[in-house]
Amino acid sequence: MGGDLENGASSGSMTEVPRVTVRPAYFVSTIIKGGWQLAGDHGAVNADQAIADMVRFVDAGVTTFDCADIYAGVEEKIGRFRAGLIRTRGRVALDNVKIHTKFVPDRDSLARLTLADVESGIDRSLLRLGLDRLDLVQFHWWDYAVPGHVEAMGHLNTLRDKGKIDLIGVTNFDVEHLTELCDTTDIASAQVQYSLLDRRASGNFAALARRRRVSIFAYGVLAGGFLTDAWLSRPDPGFDFGNRSLVKYRLIIEEFGGWALFQELLTALRAVADRHGADIATIALKATLDRPEVTAAIVGARYADRLPQTLHALELRLTDEDRAEIETVRSRARGPLGPVYGLERDISGRHGLIMKYNLNRGDNRMASASRVEAA
Ligand SMILES: NC(=O)c1ccc[n+]([C@@H]2O[C@H](COP(=O)([O-])OP(=O)(O)OC[C@H]3O[C@@H](n4cnc5c(N)ncnc54)[C@H](OP(=O)(O)O)[C@@H]3O)[C@@H](O)[C@H]2O)c1
Repeated sequence: MGGDLENGASSGSMTEVPRVTVRPAYFVSTIIKGGWQLAGDHGAVNADQAIADMVRFVDAGVTTFDCADIYAGVEEKIGRFRAGLIRTRGRVALDNVKIHTKFVPDRDSLARLTLADVESGIDRSLLRLGLDRLDLVQFHWWDYAVPGHVEAMGHLNTLRDKGKIDLIGVTNFDVEHLTELCDTTDIASAQVQYSLLDRRASGNFAALARRRRVSIFAYGVLAGGFLTDAWLSRPDPGFDFGNRSLVKYRLIIEEFGGWALFQELLTALRAVADRHGADIATIALKATLDRPEVTAAIVGARYADRLPQTLHALELRLTDEDRAEIETVRSRARGPLGPVYGLERDISGRHGLIMKYNLNRGDNRMASASRVEAA
C-alpha cells in the first residue's frame, strides 16, 4: 500500500482502518466506500437504509466516500447522510469524513467546454452534497482526440483558487495524459481499475504516480462482484446482464483469459480463504490492498451487511504460500493489456460500445441493460 500510513482511525470498531495522508492535513481511509452501486442500476436501492448504513461505515473507520456527478442521485444521498449526521451528532462527526466526487463532462460537450460549464457542474455537486467546498474532484475526459482536457483542468484550478475545491484528482487517465496534467496541476490522486484481474496501472503508470505523488485509488477490486464466492464453480453466464457493471467486468474476465482461467483464480482464492477462515472477496481485497502502488481500495456495496468481510481484509496477513498460489494462476493471464482505460476508450470496441457518454444531460436511455456503462 502506498502513501504515509497513520495510526488506525476507527472508533467503535474492532478493526482499525488505516488512514493514508494524500496531501498535508488531508487523509483518506485505505478502504473507500464506493457510490456507483447506489445509482439504481445495480439492483434496487432502499435509499433510507443505504443512507443509514453510511453511518455504520464511518463508525467502522471507512470515512472516505466515492461518488460522481453522473451517478444518478448518489451525491444527493451522500448529502442527506451528511445532513443527518450533523443533526444527530454535530458537525464534529464529519471531521474525518471525505467525500470524493467526479467531474465527468458529457462526451458531446467536450469540444466547447467553458469555465462557466465547469463551474456550473462543480456548483451542482456542491449543492447536492451540501458542501461549501468539494474535498476532492476527480476529473474524467472521454476522448483525447478532442482537445481541451488541459484547459478543463485549468478551469478546475481556477475553481480551486476560488475556494470551491480542496484537492484535484483524475480518473481513467493514462501515463501520457496524466503526465501532461501533472505539469500544470497538483494532481493528488488517480482513480483507476486495479485488481487481481487488471494490472494495467502497474509498471509505468505506478512509477509516474510515485514520482508525482499521485495516490492511486483502485476500483474494480471485486470485479463488480465477480471476485466473490457467489461465482465460484458457476458456468459461464455470458454477457447479457441486467446489472450493467457485470458486463464491464465480464469483459475484463475475457481479457484476463476467459471464464475457465477465471474459475481457476477463484478456486485458488477459495483455497487461500479456507486457510484464513475468510471469503473470496476478502482475499481479493487484501491482495490488492497489499500492492505497494495502491493507496486505497474502493469497495462498492449498497449496504453495510458485508462490512465485516471487508474489514477482515485488514486483519489477515497473506503468506508467501498464499501469494504464490494466486500468482500461479495470474501468471497465465493474457491481459488486459495496454494503457490504463485504453480498451474502454475505444468507442467502437466491445468495451467502449457499452459506455454511456452523456449521462450529465440525462442520457439514460438503455437499449438493453447490457449496453450500459458509467465512468
Ligand atoms: N472511475 C471509474 O470509472 C469507476 C468505475 C467503476 C467503479 N468506480 C467506483 O468504484 C466503486 C466500486 O465499484 P466497482 O465497479 O469497483 O465494484 P466492486 O467494488 O468491484 O464490486 C461491487 C460489488 O461487489 C459486491 N460486494 C461488495 N462487498 C462484498 C463482499 N464483501 N462480498 C461479496 N460481495 C461484495 C457488491 O454487492 P451489493 O451490490 O449487493 O452491495 C457489489 O455488487 C463504485 O461504487 C465507484 O465509486 C469508479
